[in-house]
Amino acid sequence: MRESVLGAKGLACRPHTNVTKMKTLVTGGAGFIGSNLARQLLADGHAVTILDNFQSGHRINLDAVPQARFVEGDIRDKALVDALAEGVDAIFHLAASVGNKRSIDMPIDDAQTNILGTLNILEAARVHRVPKVVFSSSAGIFGELKTLPIQEDHPVEPDSPYGASKLGAEKAGLAYAKLYGIRFVALRYFNVYGPHQRLDPYGNVIPIFVFRMLRGEPITIFGDGEQTRDFISVQDVVQANYRSALAPDVWGAFNIGSGTRISINALVEKLKRITGVDARVTYGPPRAGDVRDSLADVSAARQAFGFDPAQTMDENLTRYVDWARQEVARVEQMTV
Ligand SMILES: NC(=O)c1ccc[n+]([C@@H]2O[C@H](COP(=O)([O-])OP(=O)(O)OC[C@H]3O[C@@H](n4cnc5c(N)ncnc54)[C@H](O)[C@@H]3O)[C@@H](O)[C@H]2O)c1
Repeated sequence: MRESVLGAKGLACRPHTNVTKMKTLVTGGAGFIGSNLARQLLADGHAVTILDNFQSGHRINLDAVPQARFVEGDIRDKALVDALAEGVDAIFHLAASVGNKRSIDMPIDDAQTNILGTLNILEAARVHRVPKVVFSSSAGIFGELKTLPIQEDHPVEPDSPYGASKLGAEKAGLAYAKLYGIRFVALRYFNVYGPHQRLDPYGNVIPIFVFRMLRGEPITIFGDGEQTRDFISVQDVVQANYRSALAPDVWGAFNIGSGTRISINALVEKLKRITGVDARVTYGPPRAGDVRDSLADVSAARQAFGFDPAQTMDENLTRYVDWARQEVARVEQMTV
């Protein structure tokens, strides 16, 4: 535990004791990570309500979680968020305007969703004395690296409105933890990949490369390809959400990555091998808002709630490519 809740003033929330069968609210549950998390929660017998407005989520992701209660709506709707938080044991707050590029294109939308939307969640948690809020933060809060690997106290100088809004939301949550005793956990994900991650114009590099390779299209690397990233599988991110929620007294901000890094050029070679496609690669100018290197130090999460990322990138990528093949076939069938 990095910070102790015992020091928090005005402990207003209920004790977090009902951890074996929780009543949970998952915002952004129609999205990539949220739908994977909801599936795990349901499999373990927890009750799940999903709130999502399909801004970047997909109805088909809900097919995998038929036992969840689904509410189509917006986290910016304060009254709706308030109503859904009643009696909840844990809120997993994943709904967001996601990504650097989207935030550069739509900074106001980004701030309204990521900052004001998160404040609606925090207010509802305060009013209904929700014991635990697990927030999906991002390594985007750090900006360019000063030291590698990145520890939690690395300087925070975001390079995009997205990084800034995630940082603002995280700080607001930590203030609520101190003021009201909500066990607020900010999980700063590095680059997440895995099944149910669809192609999105604002999406991550792995789905873009894999979908283009499977369709026989060329791929573009921005910059010289020697920039490095810490890619973490969605199963490990689900594990981090789960374990931090079940650890009753844990709160604070934690880096969530694999603790390993790979260059984009090396990633492309791996993906060529796994897909069996020798894609044509072109190089373009580096993108604004992208950092050069990234690598998480995950020892704080390991110590606080036993976070233990599996070092099996080849297996995870193979699983992702298998899923993406089915997805490409499904979409092609729909267009026939
Ligand atoms: N995928 C990554 O590599 C990564 C890295 C760092 C942080 N994160 C964070 O993890 C969380 C989940 O990301 P993801 O990759 O699953 O993205 P995603 O786009 O698949 O999921 C986000 C979900 O939030 C929903 N949503 C957006 N705005 C909403 C609103 N106003 N009201 C209700 N629902 C809304 C979307 O429809 C979508 O289903 C986000 O908070 C994101 O910032 C993701």
